[in-house]
Amino acid sequence: MRKLSEIQSLVGKRVIIRCDLNVPLAGTRITDDGRIVASVPTIKYLVDQGAKVVVISHLGRPDGAPDANYSLEPAAIRLGELLGQPVFFASDTIGSEAKGVVKALDNGGVAVLENLRFNPGETSKDEIERRDFASKLAEFADLFVSDGFGVVHRKQASVYELAQLLPSYAGFLIEKELEVATALTTSPVRPYVVVLGGSKVSDKIGVIDHLLPNVNKLLIGGGMVFTFLAALGHKVGSSLLETDQIPVVREYLERAKQLGVEVVLPTDIIVASKFGADAETVITGADAIEETPFGASGLGLDIGPESAEQFASVIREAKTVFWNGPMGVFEIEKFAGGTKAVA
Ligand code: 3PG
Ligand code: MG
Repeated sequence: MRKLSEIQSLVGKRVIIRCDLNVPLAGTRITDDGRIVASVPTIKYLVDQGAKVVVISHLGRPDGAPDANYSLEPAAIRLGELLGQPVFFASDTIGSEAKGVVKALDNGGVAVLENLRFNPGETSKDEIERRDFASKLAEFADLFVSDGFGVVHRKQASVYELAQLLPSYAGFLIEKELEVATALTTSPVRPYVVVLGGSKVSDKIGVIDHLLPNVNKLLIGGGMVFTFLAALGHKVGSSLLETDQIPVVREYLERAKQLGVEVVLPTDIIVASKFGADAETVITGADAIEETPFGASGLGLDIGPESAEQFASVIREAKTVFWNGPMGVFEIEKFAGGTKAVA
């Protein structure tokens, strides 16, 4: 993907930028504006270059229809504060309001369109529907900038199809990630350790695929670990499990063995009676998740203290560490130990 610095002049150009403004909300209050803050440098650059900037993003996972709980308006207001200039907000994404707001933009002006996922085309499984929606978005701009780091791996209209419909450039967030990824795949200082967590194997398979040939040790935690444990024949109770990914995981474990990559799985797990801060918890062996008082209803929500210590020690000995995704449900203090130990 080309860099923004390759564009000769942005003055008066309409630029549509895919950001990840998916911030946590309590009502309309943003509880952590980190993703908006992270999006500012690229948007500010476009503004300073005199572009007309149309910001698009998703927020949460609404069902392809407007849902006030997932409005991007609070994010648009916060963006305006951070940029120190007015940010216009359209309460639809491709409707008459969006058209009006985009049309009215001056050079250096910024508009945020309402949540992409209020439109079924954004996340549709049907390529034609996604392409239809993307073409409507494409009408708003001369150029596309991809800067939504949390979604670059998604095959969604505003990420994938839109990039094919307009001349496309990587924003600074993506550019930085690409540089890091390139350095890691070409010349990592060894030992090179990759730590993967987060809830879904299916989200991370691409990352594993890309990194595996180069890595010395791969540490696995987070919700995805239960699919690995299941692939080894262990019972995982009511923990997150992607049954359809078990064969994929088996294949990776086999490939890792052939490549001499050591895959380190947790040896102990914190199992909870239910999901929540008031759950009862037990530490148990990773091969004995159903052997707690909670039986098959037990939920693994973090790696155990022994594993946290082991992961930390592998990381201390590493010269290069690539870390993607939490080890447990770190939002809840009881299940944050694994993630903190890795950090
Ligand atoms: C995230 O929070 O991981 C990104 O914003 C992507 O959101 P998604 O997982 O709903 O696609
Ligand atoms: Mg995610």
